Amino acid sequence: MLPRALLLLGFAFVLTLGYQDAYNHRSTTNESHTAVFCYINGTRLMAQSRRNNYQTAHFGLEHIKIELCTHLVYGAAVLDTDTWGIRAIDPDLEHRQSGNKITFEDITELKNRKRDLQVLISVSGNAIHFSNMARSHRGDFVQHARNFLNKYKFDGLNIDWRYPTRSSGDPEDKQNYSLLIKELKNTFRNDAKLLTVTVSPMKQTIIRGYEDVDSDVIDSVDYWFIMALEYYGHWSFQIGANAPIRSRELHNVHKTIDDYKQIFQRHSYKLILVIPFYGKKYQLAQPLQNNYESPISKDLVNSHAPAENVIFTYREICQKMSNEHWRRGWDSETQTPYIVKDIGAIVYDDAQSVQAKTSLALSSGLGGVMAFSIDMDDFIGDCYVEGRRYSTDNYNYNYNTRERSARKYPLLQSIYETVERGPNSAAFHSSPLALVLVILGLWLLRT
Ligand SMILES: *[C@@H]1O[C@H](CO)[C@@H](O)[C@H](O)[C@H]1NC(C)=O
Ligand SMILES: *[C@@H]1O[C@H](CO)[C@@H](O)[C@H](O)[C@H]1NC(C)=O
Ligand SMILES: *[C@@H]1O[C@H](CO)[C@@H](O)[C@H](O)[C@H]1NC(C)=O
Repeated sequence: MLPRALLLLGFAFVLTLGYQDAYNHRSTTNESHTAVFCYINGTRLMAQSRRNNYQTAHFGLEHIKIELCTHLVYGAAVLDTDTWGIRAIDPDLEHRQSGNKITFEDITELKNRKRDLQVLISVSGNAIHFSNMARSHRGDFVQHARNFLNKYKFDGLNIDWRYPTRSSGDPEDKQNYSLLIKELKNTFRNDAKLLTVTVSPMKQTIIRGYEDVDSDVIDSVDYWFIMALEYYGHWSFQIGANAPIRSRELHNVHKTIDDYKQIFQRHSYKLILVIPFYGKKYQLAQPLQNNYESPISKDLVNSHAPAENVIFTYREICQKMSNEHWRRGWDSETQTPYIVKDIGAIVYDDAQSVQAKTSLALSSGLGGVMAFSIDMDDFIGDCYVEGRRYSTDNYNYNYNTRERSARKYPLLQSIYETVERGPNSAAFHSSPLALVLVILGLWLLRT
């Protein structure tokens, strides 16, 4: 009797595993796993150390949680117009050690702690300079880039050119950028380096910016980072979500993904959805009518406020919520949280909206997501408010009850857990079946 029951239990177990395994092989990319890119904004960290503000914790090397990332992208280099190569945003980063700054060697040495971790350097710069380089100095750039990656042991390059043909760019950008991409990939291929580019969420920009996005260009780039954010900001007339999943307006994250999938077709596994870890503060034209009203699509007052005053990191927002009395709400159309107090409103992203965006990326068959940026998450884990799953009709969440989440990286964790579960959480669906078999097994054991 006992062996039979054990056999059945074993069968149930194998069935559960088998189901999950079959599920994993139905993976959305043809790579073994979904990519989770963790972006680190070097420019923000520099500004932080200059301010030397001891009230805000300083993000350092020890805070990077590589267990939650498949790739790191260090945004700490710019296009150098003297050499047409790549230069650190701060010369200290090119030295071996530099106080509490994260040097290039510090960051690539993290690979010693996680063997399959890939570390990329992101190069940003003025659109005119990129345009110039792509037209007249491609060869110099390609050689420099190659040497730079090898020197600091980076696994790849991200080109953050926003965006070809735009911002005083040139109509010729698209042919020249395509050439640059192909030349870079030809050189990188020998060293097995990754080539990634940052692209606009607007279809028009990609169509105008890349020569027909032909299959050679698609092939040459390993990952395309879709900046699906900044749909709304201080320039808008109304308050809106930074990255609305859906909205009444034409542009939203869903639409962006659809547009890209149409262009990329079976290469959609190269697309990475960039997810913002910050929010923006707005002033309402007048206070809201009641405690249920959402500030989204209401008129705002400071439509001309400078951008730097309106951006708050998730960690700052989280601390605001624990220290001041803001009301949290959830806008179900855009799938975005907000907090309001008097005529102040902050629209942001939290664990719940990040989960929704990650699920959308996975169920759309994209190759993964990018956390933008991990230095904006609660990397200390001392914020009291978040890390809980809210129900979507939870308009009256009372922050005075303050459930302590006490875990680091609530947003990055949310990405990680969503990726682990997969697009439709099929791993969960297999449990009832296993349960039935286990009960059957136990019942057999009794008789
Ligand atoms: C992934 O798919 C692309 C295009 O379908 C193909 O060229 C490539 O060889 C595939 N890679 C693997 C590892 O299967
Ligand atoms: C990094 O942070 C700086 C300062 O906060 C900001 O101006 C810049 O746009 C950020 N970089 C990216 C790539 O968003
Ligand atoms: C840049 O693009 C333009 C337009 O296609 C082309 O005429 C020019 O030759 C390109 N420059 C180089 C250096 O290839």
